[in-house]
Amino acid sequence: MAMTDSLFDAAKAAMAKAHAPYSNFSVGAAILTEDGLIHAGCNIEIVSFPEGWCAETSAIAHMVMAGGSRIAEVAVVAEKLVACSPCGGCRQRLAEFSSPNTKVHLCDAATGIVETVTMEELLPHSFATDSLGDAAA
Ligand code: THU
Repeated sequence: MAMTDSLFDAAKAAMAKAHAPYSNFSVGAAILTEDGLIHAGCNIEIVSFPEGWCAETSAIAHMVMAGGSRIAEVAVVAEKLVACSPCGGCRQRLAEFSSPNTKVHLCDAATGIVETVTMEELLPHSFATDSLGDAAA
């Protein structure tokens, strides 16, 4: 099975675990790291609505806890939206661990990948980590 198929499958399996009782909008995300491992996550909502977090953020947390640091590809899938694109906050979070040419696969829960974009396309003119170089020194 191609790695992108595995990535979609992992995102879809994560979507099934979403805790989204307030929006009823389940999302799953899966990250393929440059060393070939897959880390997935779902969105998690709480009764204080704004305090929940996205599937991409959960997947990043799993990647970091597993020792991963560089994202090669990402797959995102939502139960009720074809080609769900990462929100603004998650674009910045993904960018932290990505390259401009990192692929982000936007999926359909029924059929798989429907569109592939790059991080550069998702977050052009981004606030880059090296922007803090002097300030952090
Ligand atoms: N959501 C994600 O998990 N990822 C996205 O890229 C877009 C939105 C979640 C957040 C919230 O739990 C629900 O979808 C509705 O906005």
